[in-house]
Amino acid sequence: MTKSEELAKIHEKSPAESKCELKKTALRGVPGDGNAEAEVVFIGEAPGKSEDEGGRPFIGAAGKFLSEMLADIGMKREDIYITNIVKYRPPNNRDPLPEEKDACREWLHEELNLIAPKLIIFLGRHSMNDFFPDLKISDAHGKLVHKKFARIKTEYFLPLYHPAAALYDGSMREILIADFKKIPLILKKIG
Ligand code: URA
Repeated sequence: MTKSEELAKIHEKSPAESKCELKKTALRGVPGDGNAEAEVVFIGEAPGKSEDEGGRPFIGAAGKFLSEMLADIGMKREDIYITNIVKYRPPNNRDPLPEEKDACREWLHEELNLIAPKLIIFLGRHSMNDFFPDLKISDAHGKLVHKKFARIKTEYFLPLYHPAAALYDGSMREILIADFKKIPLILKKIG
């Protein structure tokens, strides 16, 4: 079986197995999407309205901004894999609760360990703090972190501001664009 076939299997069984309470209010589970052979996996927070309706992650305004930043560094959505910590839309896009993150963690870890990317990029504090609870996004953004986890094959992590937060905030936007430009060099460095 190819990696992408295995990934499809994970996305087929996980919604049925998921104990996430958000299943009651969301239209559907939104699985990760993209290249199963990707060197880079991006992890966001949770689906918003567009993603809940469309069934794919980052297809709204934040996703458009992300695609523009990818294009700036010569990459396409098809080159990467993108997913969320929580796979179901929280009502009115409120922050996901700890128990909702817990309920979706198995699904996330299965995707990550199948793809086993060189680099995991956190989009915002929710995904970063799920792996590194003590880091502050205002200090950690744009700085490569190396850590071995028992349950995750990937050892390199890069926290970035969330594109939705940066979209309409001039200074955060500039920082995110500048941090994004470090990605090619970081990938070269970690080889
Ligand atoms: N924001 C996220 O964190 N994830 C999405 O899929 C869309 C917006």
